[in-house]
Amino acid sequence: MVADGVERRSFAEELAVEAGQVALSYREQGDMEVRSKGVLDWVTEADLATERLIRRRISKSFPHDKVLGEEEGYLGSQADEGRSTWVVDPIDGTTCFVSGLPSWCVSIACVDETGHAFLGVVHNPPGAETFSALDGHGFTVNGHKTLIPNRGLTDGLVGVGHPRGAPDEPTLSFLARLFAAGGLFYNSGSAALSLAYVAAGRLVGFYESDLRAWDALAGEVLVRESGGWSTDFVHDGSLTTTKPVLAANRGSTAALQDVFGGSSARS
Ligand code: IPD
Ligand code: CA
Ligand code: CA
Repeated sequence: MVADGVERRSFAEELAVEAGQVALSYREQGDMEVRSKGVLDWVTEADLATERLIRRRISKSFPHDKVLGEEEGYLGSQADEGRSTWVVDPIDGTTCFVSGLPSWCVSIACVDETGHAFLGVVHNPPGAETFSALDGHGFTVNGHKTLIPNRGLTDGLVGVGHPRGAPDEPTLSFLARLFAAGGLFYNSGSAALSLAYVAAGRLVGFYESDLRAWDALAGEVLVRESGGWSTDFVHDGSLTTTKPVLAANRGSTAALQDVFGGSSARS
């Protein structure tokens, strides 16, 4: 982990809140421009303005770092060694954002020069909640450490997202096995927020078959630091490929891995 992790965590928490205010201000204006990138794939003025703000703040405070954001891609050469990379989704859950649902967030992660994601912050403006974690420093909600309940697969809901444009089979197969194991699903419409809810013990797990680094990384750090288990998005050293993401509360880990193992084996 980079030496100034604590400083980066405070920076990312403040930045996520500021970015969330920018996004909210567009929502409250009510007449923002919305463009479709594909079926249920929106980009709004708010996504673009929020990512621009995040990039400006990072460039000013950490000028030697790289930034990978959903809307504008890489800042800094991917070949540059020895620099941390900020991975940013300015609004995760844009369909909810556009629809007036409260389930969206700003997601900010930081990856060190070895490719290890060590910092994750997810901020949900409508709920005024900031979920934050730094390697070895635990998980907090609005700055407070919380006791995470140890819940089994059938004690709560499993977040399941379905990526637009990806094959249906892995999701359908996972759901069939989840139902067979007695589990039920919940789709928040935001992968990053669902992972934060796993970390906070509100969901017992999360699965989506095909996610991007900016959807998954911050949430994976949150889950790990809360004592849960998650896949490691950068296990193959790549921040740019899409991958399945699975995460679970401690008490559900074995059961959910079993559900996932069976469904991925069949897909
Ligand atoms: C999406 C959300 C959604 C998930 C999609 C993502 P976006 O991100 O996380 O929950 O199912 O796969 O692409 O487009 O709202 O940033
Ligand atoms: Ca996203
Ligand atoms: Ca987004």
